[in-house]
Order: sequence, then structure tokens, then C-alpha cells
Amino acid sequence: MNLLPVLLLAPLALSLPSPHLHRAQNHTFHLSNLTYSSTLLYSTPSHLAVSSATFSFAFSNPAAYPAQCIGHSSGQTNDAGFFAWPQIFTCTNEGAAVGHVTFAWDRYGGGVLSVKQTWECGGDTYLGTATTDVRLRCRTTFWQNPNFTWPDPGWPYSAADTTCDVLDLSVEPRVERLE
Ligand SMILES: *[C@@H]1O[C@H](CO)[C@@H](O)[C@H](O)[C@H]1NC(C)=O
Ligand SMILES: *[C@@H]1O[C@H](CO)[C@@H](O)[C@H](O)[C@H]1NC(C)=O
Ligand SMILES: *[C@@H]1O[C@H](CO)[C@@H](O)[C@H](O)[C@H]1NC(C)=O
Repeated sequence: MNLLPVLLLAPLALSLPSPHLHRAQNHTFHLSNLTYSSTLLYSTPSHLAVSSATFSFAFSNPAAYPAQCIGHSSGQTNDAGFFAWPQIFTCTNEGAAVGHVTFAWDRYGGGVLSVKQTWECGGDTYLGTATTDVRLRCRTTFWQNPNFTWPDPGWPYSAADTTCDVLDLSVEPRVERLE
């Protein structure tokens, strides 16, 4: 009688995640609340007090785990200098996840954003890779203190703030199983 072994095996088989089922799932990379901003603040005409830019987005993939992605750039004297060359940033996973999400943004190479995620399923490790063009619509506001007197550290001399419209993007990654 073969029925008993089958009944014993069935719950075990159902409880194990199948890599094949997992692979059939929707691997879309969702990049939401994607935005860029920068601030340049001069305390005197020749002293740059604050120079920073942030590029960020919330990452999710229905087949794996979500993450928060933030890249910082600093030390530039104008907005065009931030993120001038692609650098790899590691995102912060949300919840207990095995794997990591990284991104690189080539702001001057056509705005190409590449995102990679690794995750585990059924004892296998998968790598998803996607690239997408990020076309930001930004504006910069300049402010100069009309009452600035030298030297007057209590008053900023000028400020330039750049902000961009928030984007939501979805990209289909190329998924491969790693050895
Ligand atoms: C995956 O999800 C995206 C966004 O939710 C959807 O547009 C797309 O059609 C889905 N693909 C499949 C194969 O279900
Ligand atoms: C969107 O991103 C900005 C900048 O990182 C953040 O301040 C804001 O809280 C985010 N909004 C949501 C709804 O997550
Ligand atoms: C500059 O000084 C004038 C006169 O005291 C004052 O009315 C004005 O608000 C000041 N402007 C700023 C930006 O502080």
C-alpha cells in the first residue's frame, strides 16, 4: 500500500518554497518616490558652508524583499558637480532579508540608473539586474541676502536649492541563478 508514504511526504513538499514557482513570479523592480535634491549654502562670498545632494528611492520586488535606497554626494561648488561619476551605493533592506540591493546612477551618462538585487529561494541565490533612464525635471532657486555685511557669520550670504519632481518607475530585471 503506497498511500501512507505519499501522505507523509505531501506536507513536507508543500512547505518548501519551490525555485521554479518563485521564478514564475513577477520579478518587476518598482522604484517609487524617486527623487534628487541638492543644497549649496555660502556663509560668505568665498566660504561654502553646506554642499550636499541626495538621490533616493524606495525599492520593491514582489518576488523578494523591499529596501530603501539613498545616495549622497557632497563637496561640490555647483549642482552640476554632484554624482558626476557613477558610484555604487548599497540600499538598506526592510525586514529580515538574505541578500542586498545596490544601485549606481550615471547622472551624466544619460541619467542611466542600474539596480541589482540578490535573494535566496529554495536554497538557490538569484541575481536580478535592471537599468532604466531617469529623466528628472528639476528647478533651482537662488537666494542672496541683500543685507549681507562682511564679515557676518550669523547670516548666510547665499543659498541655491535644487529639487526635482518625484518619479515612480517599474523595470523588468534580467534574473539569473547564481552558482
Ligand atoms: C508585473 O507587474 C507589473 C506592475 O505591477 C505589471 O505591469 C506587469 O504586467 C506584471 N507582469 C506579469 C508577467 O505579471
Ligand atoms: C520620499 O522621499 C523623500 C526624500 O528621501 C522623503 O523625505 C519622503 O518621506 C518620502 N516619501 C514617502 C511617502 O516615502
Ligand atoms: C534687510 O534689511 C531690511 C531693513 O532692515 C529689512 O526690512 C529686510 O527684511 C532685511 N532682509 C532680510 C532678508 O533679512
